[in-house]
Amino acid sequence: MKEFLKMENIHKRFPGVYALKGINISVNKGEVHALLGENGAGKSTLMKVLGGVHKQDEGSIYINGEKIDFIDPKKATELGIAFVHQELNLAESLTVAENMYMGRLPYKNELLGIVDYKKLYKDANEILEELGVNINANNLVSELPTAKKQMIEIAKSISQKAKVIIFDEPTTSLANNDVETLFRVINKLKNDGVSIIYISHRLKEIFEICDRATIMRDGAYIGCCDVKEVSQKDLIKMMVGRELNDLFPKVTVTPGDIVLECKNIESANGEIKNASFNLRKGEIIGISGLVGSGRTELVRLIFGADKMSSGSIAINGKQVTIRNPIDAINNKICLITEDRKKQGLCLPLSVEDNITMTMLNKSILDKKKMKEISIKYKDLLKIKTHNLETIAGTLSGGNQQKIVIAKWLNTNSDIFIFDEPTKGIDVGAKSEIYNLMNDLVKEGKSIIMISSEMPELLGMSDRVYVMCEGRITGELKKDDCTQEKIMELATIGGSLNGKEVEFKAVIS
Ligand SMILES: Nc1ncnc2c1ncn2[C@@H]1O[C@H](COP(=O)(O)OP(=O)(O)OP(=O)(O)O)[C@@H](O)[C@H]1O
Ligand SMILES: [Mg+2]
Repeated sequence: MKEFLKMENIHKRFPGVYALKGINISVNKGEVHALLGENGAGKSTLMKVLGGVHKQDEGSIYINGEKIDFIDPKKATELGIAFVHQELNLAESLTVAENMYMGRLPYKNELLGIVDYKKLYKDANEILEELGVNINANNLVSELPTAKKQMIEIAKSISQKAKVIIFDEPTTSLANNDVETLFRVINKLKNDGVSIIYISHRLKEIFEICDRATIMRDGAYIGCCDVKEVSQKDLIKMMVGRELNDLFPKVTVTPGDIVLECKNIESANGEIKNASFNLRKGEIIGISGLVGSGRTELVRLIFGADKMSSGSIAINGKQVTIRNPIDAINNKICLITEDRKKQGLCLPLSVEDNITMTMLNKSILDKKKMKEISIKYKDLLKIKTHNLETIAGTLSGGNQQKIVIAKWLNTNSDIFIFDEPTKGIDVGAKSEIYNLMNDLVKEGKSIIMISSEMPELLGMSDRVYVMCEGRITGELKKDDCTQEKIMELATIGGSLNGKEVEFKAVIS
């Protein structure tokens, strides 16, 4: 097979961070090449060097054997390098075709700025049809679900005649059947001779779709291997530097009294209907369901982020009124949101400011204590950051997630609601988060966990509530909780009002 891309001995330093320490990667034509490493290992940074976003301090890049001395984002596109980003970068109020050809619109008369819309939509539709993704180029992007938006990014890469497409954690927000579609499209690209660099923390996917893998650890190059010749354990060992035996180290705590009891709660916006459930001291309950089944909406009600129209919430047997998040916090409830960038963090603020944000209800700041607390959680959660003044937005995805968790650990809450706690988190850090959940329940705290990762849900929950169309359709005890039963309850409603059904649960 012919080598298309080679990056050799790439070094990159940021102020205080030695992010890449001599990385090598070689990608063949028509190959799906995995780039693996823990959170903060430097995967995204390496790809940003390739995309011309960062300039390497040392090292060379070759395309088709030819050394490329200078890359900026425009040059990268010309060289056939394209990205499908983790956080999609699309203009929501424009059409699919306008997004695909942004900056490269076909003109009838360029001087007068008259766009050849007929050609634009024809070209765009041709590519979309070829991909077999059932999207119309005339659609507004804002009207499409996440999975389809991702397809637009792929279609855009194809329209640019991309020769190498970089997928940075493409499946974190995808439903199960959408992952299948994505893999089908990736295989098609591969057969057309396009090279793919595939970054994911879901190792199962690596075995499903990748040919070779390059592994990085702490910015250093560890090695490259043929995926067929290694086991999952081998990959983990190379990434983490040690063996991880038990991915779901669940401890069993005998549940105590009911700490939270929700009866017939309904939301003012009509998204949640007549939901009743309870949570005991020392217990982890899982909440499962399809995308749009109301899982996030349910916990937002309990946290006071949305308005409740009827029903009751009791904490430790006492009725409480939760009108807003402050009421929830005062009742020792906290919510670790699914979307860390928009809701979990203040990205331009420092690591310390984010961790200690939940202490800002005092009129005088205790700077010394804020520092102490930040150091404590940085160490406890092994947050990889140069120092506490580092801007949260520059940390790797997984480390950002850890800050959100630290922020709430710092409140001495009794009820922890985790909405997709391990989204974008590497295998090592995942088991650290599970251990942390275990520590919380051992201390007598209680946890509600929404998760789309079936192994995590089955591995960590004492009981699972399943939702469908805004209702809780069933409760399963740990011993009789299986993937099949969850799926049955998740689709029990039958009538999905003509809405597109999406399986968010990742079945493995
Ligand atoms: N613009 C920047 N300024 C300073 N430091 C940065 C910048 N971008 C990345 N870093 C640092 O470089 C290191 C590598 O980060 P990178 O985002 O490449 O990791 P990653 O392997 O993609 O991790 P994840 O799996 O969590 O996405 C981290 O320590 C990060 O904080
Ligand atoms: Mg990354």
